[in-house]
Amino acid sequence: MTKMIDVKPATQTAEYRYARGWHCVGEAQDFRDGKLHALNIFGTRLVAFADDNDEISVLDGFCPHMGADLSEGELVEGRVVCHFHHWAFDASGRCTDIPYCKRISPKAKTRRWMTCEVNKLLFVWNNPEGKPPGEGIEIPYFPEIDSDEWDNDWHMDLMVIETNPRELVDNLSDAQHFGPVHGAPMTYFANVFEGHIGHQIFHGDSGRLGGDLIADSAYYGPATHFTRMKAEYEGMTIESILLNCHVPITPDSFELRFGVLVKKIPGWTEEQNRELALEYVRNNRDSFYQDVDIWKSKARVDNPVLAEGDGPIYQLREWYSQFFMDEEKVPAKLKERQEIVTFDSRR
Ligand code: FES
Ligand SMILES: [Fe+2]
Repeated sequence: MTKMIDVKPATQTAEYRYARGWHCVGEAQDFRDGKLHALNIFGTRLVAFADDNDEISVLDGFCPHMGADLSEGELVEGRVVCHFHHWAFDASGRCTDIPYCKRISPKAKTRRWMTCEVNKLLFVWNNPEGKPPGEGIEIPYFPEIDSDEWDNDWHMDLMVIETNPRELVDNLSDAQHFGPVHGAPMTYFANVFEGHIGHQIFHGDSGRLGGDLIADSAYYGPATHFTRMKAEYEGMTIESILLNCHVPITPDSFELRFGVLVKKIPGWTEEQNRELALEYVRNNRDSFYQDVDIWKSKARVDNPVLAEGDGPIYQLREWYSQFFMDEEKVPAKLKERQEIVTFDSRR
């Protein structure tokens, strides 16, 4: 069970804005159950549902009439009916029916948020400037999600973490935590920043996963982190894709999702593969929770004191800052490729 953090309708002000970018709100199929789903994100409440064509819509969650919570209403023939005075809103957010009045003001509408579905996940686009994503600002498709060679249902966990999401994103450049926290000393560690993508390349040795480990991972925008991983596990090479994504609830809390896809071992039965996948997922989760435990209680430090051998935390934060400023103010250098190798045992 996740903890509920109460939210009130709010606008994104100059004092605090939520990151511009695609944010994952879970597996798309979960919204196709004929129900209304409240999303308490970006400091407000949204309502998500699938219309009669199974298209998912995400709307502002407070009724433009008198502010009732639309997620408490009813979904009737693909429209949201508010529980207060029964105004009905279609998938575009337009009011299509007021039971006691024929004339419907064009102002009677609630905002529809941009969404996309990639890798069986639903994403919501946030941009305080109100603009759609620029060219190439997208979540990459992993063909593995549709491949028979993969156990391609996300094994997904959801948790609420009460801190600022920057604490989580710092992890991308934190070369020196792998040994102490994960017991996985590195042999190679590098970051590559380019436009909205922040990469981490890690080679190391994972006791938990049983040996050599190669992980190539990237944030696509501020909140969606995919890792391709190859690990030696019980004498086999296991390939997997990990998802680590978050969506802010308030400036100091976020929902965190952790998901795993695993490639099947050829020649094994479905059942054997399933078992292996579950065991592998458990081990991955355990190492992910080692990070979560630290995030839960650490303090925010804006000017960390670094030592030689630490990863490029300052460059990472500069890269991350682009999502909190108007697009036209993003410095040109953040669009260029920047590669930083922190550790290479072959040198
Ligand atoms: S508040 Fe929603 S119909 Fe009146
Ligand atoms: Fe970690």
